[in-house]
Amino acid sequence: MSGHDVPGGCYHLGILGGGQLGRMLIAEARLLDLRVAVLDPDPDAPCAALADRFWCGSLDDPAAISRLIDACAVTTWEIEHINIDAVSERVEHGAVVRPDPAVLRIVQDKAAQRRRFAEAGLPGPRWCEFPPGNVSTLAAFGFPAVQKLRWGGYDGRGVTTLHTTDTQQLPGPSILEELIAIEYELAVLVARALDGSVVCYDPVQMRFDPARNICTHVIAAPPQMSLIRPEIALEARRIAQAAVTALDGVGIFGVELFVEKGSTGRVLLNEVAPRPHNSGHYTIDACATSQFAQHLRAVLGLPLGSAEIFSPAVMVNLLGAGEPGPVAVDGLERALSVPGVTVHLYGKRRSVPGRKMGHLTALGTTPEEALERANRAAACIQIHGASASQSQGGHSG
Ligand SMILES: Nc1ncnc2c1ncn2[C@@H]1O[C@H](COP(=O)(O)OP(=O)(O)OP(=O)(O)O)[C@@H](O)[C@H]1O
Ligand SMILES: [Mg+2]
Repeated sequence: MSGHDVPGGCYHLGILGGGQLGRMLIAEARLLDLRVAVLDPDPDAPCAALADRFWCGSLDDPAAISRLIDACAVTTWEIEHINIDAVSERVEHGAVVRPDPAVLRIVQDKAAQRRRFAEAGLPGPRWCEFPPGNVSTLAAFGFPAVQKLRWGGYDGRGVTTLHTTDTQQLPGPSILEELIAIEYELAVLVARALDGSVVCYDPVQMRFDPARNICTHVIAAPPQMSLIRPEIALEARRIAQAAVTALDGVGIFGVELFVEKGSTGRVLLNEVAPRPHNSGHYTIDACATSQFAQHLRAVLGLPLGSAEIFSPAVMVNLLGAGEPGPVAVDGLERALSVPGVTVHLYGKRRSVPGRKMGHLTALGTTPEEALERANRAAACIQIHGASASQSQGGHSG
């Protein structure tokens, strides 16, 4: 597509979901002068102020989904929890949705996802299906076992570790996985084009807040400076590309992997996010093509760009702290005074403790320098709910 060939009243791109991933996608679409329409249930969603057309509606509502898809040349999603039947119905009638909703149907169900990767011969934890409360399945699987809800989990919600048949279980259809002794977690971004060609970014390390299961840091570096050993990086790239190919996906995909402790250092596939991924935010500041630009290129049928990383980079998620309430940002000026730092705020109106409110990326000449700068800058910024006496939505230095 030329970028300017949609009829009046129509949009080049539709996005199901209006969160920060959609917002960063719109920022890239602006560079190509593309018109974007968005559907999200929250009238104050991060995309609301940036989209050319923002429809407030449920991502479960077939009528709202049809209205968006039918107004857009190409539609994508930025969140997995959408009504796939409604999306598939439009595709059957000729609408263009990328990736194909069949990809999402597999990814939404952790059992279907594990099955697809096992069929493709990809290494992962031992696993089995776990119908709700089926004690004999659990006992036969052995302990400790990681229980994961098949549908609906995110940010570690829907994941728990069972030590005996008496451990409190999550309600609902699930899978069991062996508990991996994880040395560290990796993510690999893979972009796949309409013709099946792939561009793979260098693997990055993800670090988590263990209490909240939220990713706090992403550490990225060119291969010669990477903290990830070359043979691990090579294996991670191989698995990630094969996983996205096994899904027949088009777009950008965040592939999450574990490196197992011990002498074997096995690389195991955890899961695939069929959309831009938190682990790829650093690409905006550190790579030739950001994950958002790459996603646009892939879903619009444009040539994929280079995934080259120009500098070590560390991304830190900026989470809401303190009391919930109208958002207040403190310490922005001090954070921006740290060399190599950029701050990305998502425009969420309300701060909630633990909610992703923004992120910052620090570049450095080494990963260690980038990490030190990122931590120094992050320590300056506080995003929290403002009390009635504080200015609404205000930034203070
Ligand atoms: N088999 C396992 N062994 C050990 N730890 C695991 C295992 N599976 C998951 N975990 C831990 O739990 C975290 C969340 O698991 P997973 O990514 O499968 O769930 P999720 O709810 O989809 O999370 P998110 O949305 O944050 O990606 C992982 O990042 C990892 O730290
Ligand atoms: Mg995960």
